[in-house]
Amino acid sequence: MFERTLVLIKPDGVQRKLMGKIISCYEDKGLTISAMKMLYATNDILQQHYIEHKNKTFFNELISYLLEGKIVAMIVEGNNAINVVRKINGATDPLNADMGSIRGRFGNDKTKNLVHSSDSIDTAQRELTLWFPEF
Ligand code: CMP
Repeated sequence: MFERTLVLIKPDGVQRKLMGKIISCYEDKGLTISAMKMLYATNDILQQHYIEHKNKTFFNELISYLLEGKIVAMIVEGNNAINVVRKINGATDPLNADMGSIRGRFGNDKTKNLVHSSDSIDTAQRELTLWFPEF
């Protein structure tokens, strides 16, 4: 099924100069980057984006990390894009991530885990509207 999903390359991905490698992972799989922008996230957008984690112990650490530097926001689309991108990214904790995935190959920290992507059709709709209101 054709789907669109939101991908964020988090500040560690940008600072470690992994943008090109990360984007290639989606393109090499046949997915399309249909929109992309580099920006500093605001506290406001992050509070909305991570609202489901508001009561988690790691919430403040997570928000501070996302505010550390520029991020890249992308719309990635194609066949089964939501689950294909999640597989390409790997499990949240790089220790559990498939070694062929982005987090398995490049990550070694549960919070600073390089990328984010939407986890369902409903979440993708909400996150795409939040990060790409112009579309
Ligand atoms: P992400 O896919 O963006 O969704 C929520 C983020 O919170 C996650 O990636 C990690 O950056 C972070 N996170 C999730 N679980 C934990 C945890 N147990 N400890 C610290 N950070 C976490």
